[in-house]
Amino acid sequence: MRRTRVNELFGIEHPIVQAGMIWVSGAKLAAAAAEAGALGLIGAGSMTPELLRAQIRKARTLTARPFGVNLPIFHRYAEEMVPIILEEGVRIVFTSAGSPKKYTPTFKAAGIVVAHVVSTPELAKKCEDAGVDAVVAEGFEAGGHNGRDELTTMVLVPQAVDAVKLPVIAAGGIGDGRAMAAAFALGAEGVQVGSRFVCAAESSAHAAFKAKVVEAGSTDTFLVLKPIVPVRLIKNSFCRRVLDIEAAGADKEKLSELLGRGRARLGMLDGDVEEGELEIGQVSGLIRDVAPAAEIVRRLVEECRAAIASLS
Ligand SMILES: Cc1cc2nc3c(=O)[nH]c(=O)nc-3n(C[C@H](O)[C@H](O)[C@H](O)COP(=O)(O)O)c2cc1C
Repeated sequence: MRRTRVNELFGIEHPIVQAGMIWVSGAKLAAAAAEAGALGLIGAGSMTPELLRAQIRKARTLTARPFGVNLPIFHRYAEEMVPIILEEGVRIVFTSAGSPKKYTPTFKAAGIVVAHVVSTPELAKKCEDAGVDAVVAEGFEAGGHNGRDELTTMVLVPQAVDAVKLPVIAAGGIGDGRAMAAAFALGAEGVQVGSRFVCAAESSAHAAFKAKVVEAGSTDTFLVLKPIVPVRLIKNSFCRRVLDIEAAGADKEKLSELLGRGRARLGMLDGDVEEGELEIGQVSGLIRDVAPAAEIVRRLVEECRAAIASLS
């Protein structure tokens, strides 16, 4: 496997990032990914500040290898989480969903390596100007919240690579080593993998959610709720109702009312796979089993090597 600036920046064996994911990536998954030689991320987006502190401490008991925290900037506890990240000596932070200018100076002043998630080449450039160390270029085939501009990974990654001198980590639609090899061909120096790790044995996703992902076909996800925050979901009763009211011209208020509170937890953690919000990417059509994180990393690396070898 080629070594890139992403290996060096994070001190990892393989240039693979296990994405930060609400209700899915706690200490157990992040540590398992780290032990497998990837970068594991604890997803702070669904945690309270004290839970984040406990999860950072727990991860330390499970691995001595590097792991980081994903902090969505719009998170209602983001302001309180920043001092916790500093106090707990976290060395790597991936920020998302907000301006890279907001926390980068604070993290950099503490010697933390910062990556920021972008959905356009223009935002990648802003990250560079804000002093981040790497950008994650995420196409809108990805699971979870998406950029409004709907650039696919194939189109976004080379433009992000051209826009900045920083290492670019490709995200969105990468579920096997063939896609990882393609990301390298586009100029990325690493990949961030989300949906595939939802179906890791160590993820906190409910078993019923994992089963739904394994069953999903290639056309079973939809990008919905664009007037609020665009999010890619698996088709279920809730998603179908959203699609129906969107087709009938529902405005932001009507959509917010249907969404209510706690839908993501209901689906992804509590396992109500009909009424909950199930965030997953288009690549779910390729996910056929629940496997340990180490096995997922092993397959990614081997398939990537084979894909590159088959081209030469
Ligand atoms: C269940 C789920 C939850 C997610 N939660 C977050 C989050 O809290 N913060 C974030 O920056 N991205 C989040 N994402 C996006 C991932 O970090 C990652 O960039 C994306 O999943 C990559 O695309 P893929 O799903 O095709 O692998 C989430 C994705 C999924 C599937």
